[in-house]
Amino acid sequence: MLLEIENLRVAFQTGDGEVNAVNGVSFGIDRGETLAIVGESGSGKSQTAFAAMGLLAKNGAATGKALYKGQNLLTLKQKQLNKFRSEEIAMIFQDPMTSLNPYIRISEQMAEVLTLHKGVSKKHAIAESVRMLDAVRIPDAANRIRSYPHEFSGGMRQRIMIAMSLLCQPSLLIADEPTTALDVTVQAQIMDLLGDIRRDFGTAIILITHDLGVVAGFCDRTLVMYGGQIMEDGPTEAMFADPSHPYTKGLLQAVPRLDRDDDSLATIAGEPPDMSRLPQGCPFSPRCAWVQNTCPHIRPDLVNWADDRRRACHVPAKEVMA
Ligand SMILES: Nc1ncnc2c1ncn2[C@@H]1O[C@H](COP(=O)(O)OP(=O)(O)OP(=O)(O)O)[C@@H](O)[C@H]1O
Ligand SMILES: [Mg+2]
Repeated sequence: MLLEIENLRVAFQTGDGEVNAVNGVSFGIDRGETLAIVGESGSGKSQTAFAAMGLLAKNGAATGKALYKGQNLLTLKQKQLNKFRSEEIAMIFQDPMTSLNPYIRISEQMAEVLTLHKGVSKKHAIAESVRMLDAVRIPDAANRIRSYPHEFSGGMRQRIMIAMSLLCQPSLLIADEPTTALDVTVQAQIMDLLGDIRRDFGTAIILITHDLGVVAGFCDRTLVMYGGQIMEDGPTEAMFADPSHPYTKGLLQAVPRLDRDDDSLATIAGEPPDMSRLPQGCPFSPRCAWVQNTCPHIRPDLVNWADDRRRACHVPAKEVMA
C-alpha cells in the first residue's frame, strides 16, 4: 500500500461542542491506483485528506494512523511532514486562485518549487516548469510562463496548479473537487489530463468529489462517505452497477444519465446529519428507506461482504440490491 489510513478520527472543538467530522475511517490506496471519495457536502471527505496531510484547522485534532510508505504522517515532525508534502504527496483544490500568488509570475512560483525542494538552478527549474506546462497543454508555454495568474482562465489556472503539483514527481496526488468550479467542457478536459498524468507518470490519485458522473470511467475504486464514516467501497464499475448500500443507491439515483428519463431523477429525502449530534447507530438511518429497528441504535460495522467490496449496513445486501 502506498497510503494506508487506519481508524482515522477527526474532531473539531467549537463553541457548540465537539464536531465529529471523521469517525473511524480505514482504507488504502496502491501505487498508480485511482480512488474516488464521494458523498454529500459535509460527509468528511476533505477533512479525511486534510488530516492525513496535516492541514486541519487549529481547532481540529486527528487520531488513528495515516501510513505513507509505512510512515505515520500524523506523528511526523513538521519538517519531515513538509518534505513529504512537497516531494511525495501533492494536493490540488477547487479554487486554484487560493493556491497561486496573484502578484508573482507563474515562472517564479513554479521555479521556486524546484529550486527549494530539488536544489536545482533557476535556469533548469524554468526549463522543467515549461516542460510541465507543455505536458498539461498550456499553449505557448515558453512565453506564457512569464504571465501572472489572472492572465489565465479558471481552467488554465487549474492546469497550472496541476503542472506545479507534478514538478516534484509525487507518488500521490490528492485532488479535492478539482473541477467543481469549472464549466462542463473544461471539467472533461481536466479529467482527461488527470488520466494522462496517471498513465504517463504512474501517479496514484485520490479524487474527492460529490459528482459521481466524474468518477465513473475514471476511478478504479470508489469509497462512499456519510456522516464521517465509510458506507460502502469497492471497484467503481461493480459498485455503480450494483450498489449494496441504501445511501450509494440514493446518490446514484440522483446522477443525471443519458440512458434514463430525467423524470426519474430523485434526490435523497432529508438533510445530511449535524456532525455534532450524530445518531448512536447508523448516521444514515433517519433518511433511509430500508431502516430497521436496530439501525438508529447500533452502528453497523464495515465488513467485507463480497470480493473486494465492503459495506456498513444492517440490511442484507441482497435486499438492497433487489
Ligand atoms: N474548523 C472546523 N470547525 C468545526 N467544524 C468543521 C471545521 N472544518 C470542517 N468542519 C466540519 O467537518 C465536517 C466535514 O467537513 P468536510 O470539509 O470534510 O466535508 P466534505 O465532505 O469535504 O464536504 P464538501 O463536499 O462540502 O466539501 C462538516 O460538518 C464541517 O462543517
Ligand atoms: Mg470538501
